[in-house]
Amino acid sequence: MFKIIDKENLNKEIVRIEIEAPQIAAKANAGQFVAVVIDEKGERVPLTIADWDAEKGTITLIFQKVGFTTRKFGEMGVGQILFNVLGPLGHATRPIQSKTIICVAGGVGIAEIYPVIRLFKSEGNNVTTVIGARNKGLLILEERISKISDKLFITTDDGSYGDKGFVTDVLEKIINGQENAGRNIKPDLVYCVGPVMMMKAVSELTRKSGIKTIVSLNPIMVDATGMCGSCRCKVEGRTVFGCVDGPDFDGHQVDFDDLSNRLGQFKEEEKNAD
Ligand code: FAD
Ligand code: FES
Ligand code: MG
Repeated sequence: MFKIIDKENLNKEIVRIEIEAPQIAAKANAGQFVAVVIDEKGERVPLTIADWDAEKGTITLIFQKVGFTTRKFGEMGVGQILFNVLGPLGHATRPIQSKTIICVAGGVGIAEIYPVIRLFKSEGNNVTTVIGARNKGLLILEERISKISDKLFITTDDGSYGDKGFVTDVLEKIINGQENAGRNIKPDLVYCVGPVMMMKAVSELTRKSGIKTIVSLNPIMVDATGMCGSCRCKVEGRTVFGCVDGPDFDGHQVDFDDLSNRLGQFKEEEKNAD
């Protein structure tokens, strides 16, 4: 159980790992995640199910090596066995039919949005995707995303590939019709996953045009089962739990500043773990 059967370094920061997990693969849906415990002393780390194969009985995780656990996980190799993988967790992304949708993702969020684009396409939607990374070397899954999107736009912060700038610059142009031969395609929905500040900027942009926006939140999760309260977020002024009420929420209702503050709450402990 939970044996690593394939591994690939997508770039120097991001790793793709395929794991034997037949029960999870049989039930997985777009937008859901697992809690991974790499060894018996390990913490639970929430990671999106980036892909799955029910017949083969495997799930794929794509993660960025940012700290103690993800670095250790990134050092594991084919044949090694994970202590535990719990899931699928969280609500699946809601399907929507025959609409015009813009999917926006940044950094490792590109891996998280892949199954969501696939879901939207399978429901007959027109999907334009905008993905961004700091530079060309950090951009992942371009080919796979391009295959399932009606249109794909790429941005890099430093201009080393695609348009120079942020995903929000392109999104603004699309909404204003500048990227579509002057035709203003007001999308029915924008779906966004990435760094908190990116999701905040996207939500502020779409709020002005009244475009419904769903964001996939990434609060600190400890038990990932709704018991500990560490993943609490403020949405519509109410307290919700990212792990059991999310991870998808209405971007216009999320208090991103609160989320950002809470993400920094264990900074000292995380530093000491390294
Ligand atoms: P640490 O040094 O412990 O922390 C580095 C930073 O990661 C922290 O400052 C904090 O912002 C964040 N973090 C730390 N622990 C947690 C935690 N338990 N829960 C959430 N965030 C934490 N990352 C990916 O690379 N790929 C994914 O597919 C992915 N999917 C996610 C899905 C969900 C629902 C959530 C909530 C998070 C997801 N993340 C994903 C983020 C990932 O969980 C964190 O990067 C990881 O837990 C960092 O752990 P660490 O010990 O390596 O780093
Ligand atoms: Fe504990 Fe969500 S992680 S309640
Ligand atoms: Mg950690």
